[in-house]
Amino acid sequence: MHMSMNDIDVFISYKHETSKPVADAVCHALEDKRIRCWYAPRDAGTGPYARAITNAINSCKVFVVILNTEASDSHHVLNEVEKAYKRVDNGLVIIPFKVDSPKVSDEMEYYINRMNWIDAMTSDLERFIGELVTKVENIVGPTSQKAKASSERRKNDFLGDTPSIEKELSRSMAQARFVNFYLDRIYENITKDLKSFNVLDVGSGGGHQISTSVVIRPELNKVIGMDINEEAIKLSNEKYGSDKIKFYCSDCESREFEDKLLEVMKENDICSFDIINISFLLLFLKDPSKVIMVLKRVLSENGCLIIADIDDGFLIAYPDNNLIFEEAFDILSKYNTSGYRKSGREIYYTLKGADINDISLKHTGLSTIGVPIEVKKDLFQTYFGLIPIVLEEALSIDDNNPYAITDTEWYCKNKKNIEDEFYGKEFMMIAGIIVYVAK
Ligand SMILES: C[S@@+](CC[C@H](N)C(=O)[O-])C[C@H]1O[C@@H](n2cnc3c(N)ncnc32)[C@H](O)[C@@H]1O
Repeated sequence: MHMSMNDIDVFISYKHETSKPVADAVCHALEDKRIRCWYAPRDAGTGPYARAITNAINSCKVFVVILNTEASDSHHVLNEVEKAYKRVDNGLVIIPFKVDSPKVSDEMEYYINRMNWIDAMTSDLERFIGELVTKVENIVGPTSQKAKASSERRKNDFLGDTPSIEKELSRSMAQARFVNFYLDRIYENITKDLKSFNVLDVGSGGGHQISTSVVIRPELNKVIGMDINEEAIKLSNEKYGSDKIKFYCSDCESREFEDKLLEVMKENDICSFDIINISFLLLFLKDPSKVIMVLKRVLSENGCLIIADIDDGFLIAYPDNNLIFEEAFDILSKYNTSGYRKSGREIYYTLKGADINDISLKHTGLSTIGVPIEVKKDLFQTYFGLIPIVLEEALSIDDNNPYAITDTEWYCKNKKNIEDEFYGKEFMMIAGIIVYVAK
């Protein structure tokens, strides 16, 4: 799914051979502010190049040209500037961003001498890029309808160097079975008419969830899993790796992520993905819309994003006479490992913030009512198996952490009661899990 032309705020024109790092930095800074950029080759798609460039220039509101001597001499850059110049009377703003005191050719001078320069010396590039972002923000106006990164969100890689990683990867197997009980029908609907499909799983963890779901279908072509945690990637490849299923280490919030993704796609002969699966990742991200914007660029024309995430607002345990479930959920939400617990209700805005508009809510609150006992057991493990892991992790960071010490004592005392009450015939639990499908 390539960017629709209505989505473009800024076209970035530059000489690829000499200014790619500057263009990348400019694009990154603008997209950090939710300003949508178009630059080649990233956004050019697979159709005719010249047409894609012309359409993009005809649709953008601001045209930034990164100008050095080579760009000023470049036939391509000059062509783009010329096209942009034709739209100046219709409101397009051209901003030449001068780097390295370029010698500007007469032809280029003709087009840009009346424009608003930014004289950027590379030694203080960041400051000038800041100036450019402010200028562009003033032109394209407020981005209020788009989701802002919530100030409560913290980047958090969940597992880090936790001593309990093996325990966690085994717990997440139960979670995978529980979630797939609900997701299998969604995968089935999406893939039933496809002759061949590719899947990307971002934040793939131990690889269980994706490797035990849609990918068992014979029409599967390739699955790529990506996760920030090297150990998780190693274990995923050992357990599930094959010609069709491969896992790679990458931080999806890093600048390198998109390049890494494109490199992996090339290596595996994948043009785009039919399913992008994101389960229980967004709650660990600082700015999930930004990640979705990157993923949108590698989603196929009719491809789908399937997103499952946590929201404790939907979490219910009833009856809870001794408030042990309330206490258990409180432990699960208060440590750093727990991520942002309102992430589920923000999926909609996260998708809107990435200019995705075809959004369907599929599940809210996955319940223990009317499900086989195995599914109930998996839900138990999903939630309550996490408590000792979260506490071990907190104590491994600071073994004097008074909260973790008290909570560990409480858990040891109440572990058996939690289990007895959970399996009581009068008891129900609704997991705070939300699932969306978007195109
Ligand atoms: C709760 S686990 C979910 C694993 C798997 N998707 C599942 O549903 O079983 C969250 C995963 O996200 C990964 N993660 C966290 N931040 C990440 C980031 N910035 N980039 C890539 N992966 C990340 C963690 O390492 C962890 O494996």
